[in-house]
Amino acid sequence: MVTAYDAPGARMVDEAGVDMILVGDSLAMVVLGYDDTLQVTVDDIAHHTAAVSRTKPSALIVADLPWLSYHISIEETVKNAAKLIRAGANAIKLEGGRRRIPMIEALISAEIPVMGHIGLTPQSINAMGGFKVQARDTEGALDLVSAAKALQHAGCFSLVLEGVPSQVASMVTNSVDIPTIGIGAGPDCDGQVLVFHDLLGFEKKIMPKFVRNYAQFHVDGVSALGDFVDDVRSGSFPSENESYCLNSETSEELGLYGAM
Ligand code: KIV
Repeated sequence: MVTAYDAPGARMVDEAGVDMILVGDSLAMVVLGYDDTLQVTVDDIAHHTAAVSRTKPSALIVADLPWLSYHISIEETVKNAAKLIRAGANAIKLEGGRRRIPMIEALISAEIPVMGHIGLTPQSINAMGGFKVQARDTEGALDLVSAAKALQHAGCFSLVLEGVPSQVASMVTNSVDIPTIGIGAGPDCDGQVLVFHDLLGFEKKIMPKFVRNYAQFHVDGVSALGDFVDDVRSGSFPSENESYCLNSETSEELGLYGAM
């Protein structure tokens, strides 16, 4: 699974043969410039889900329910998820363990497939005291396994495991029948997810250790933009081939003959 937030990104991800596109709430940070994921709304996610969906990808589109869109009531949860489905998502993802079960059951009874997300849940950044690897002790590890089983029992079709030790992700993966998709959770999950902009190197910044850079879009992009600036300033862009010209008759009528 890879995230995408717009049509060209979705086309790239789909063409690469990725199974699932996540319109993640990471949108807040990687596209909209916020410091955390708490700032995006259902309307933001719906807007970007619609752009992804218009590309008609083969990959399954999963859209994130943002913070506070599934915390207040079951009714609000189902209505918010329905907005994302109507925008083109095939399924939604939400963060949290057992306390989300009533919401998950209501979504599933409204025919909305749900992907769970446990371990480090970025929407809980304030409650967790920062982005910290979770389930590092025995109690935490056993609790994560039990939460995974409870989410499976509630009907989740898959689980994201974020920011947990590899051994714990492996325990969880072996304890459930639904696929686990890891991010910062080691190699023993059934699948892996990365954020599009991290994977392709859109930002020149230090990345968490679980990110592998497959391209340097920032460096290559700045260099290409610099070439454009140089060509405009030197007058070498646009060339004649990159310009539209009048035909000779009209040029003559306008007294421009020979001007081009
Ligand atoms: O929003 C997101 O990109 C995510 C992934 C990190 C799993 O939830």
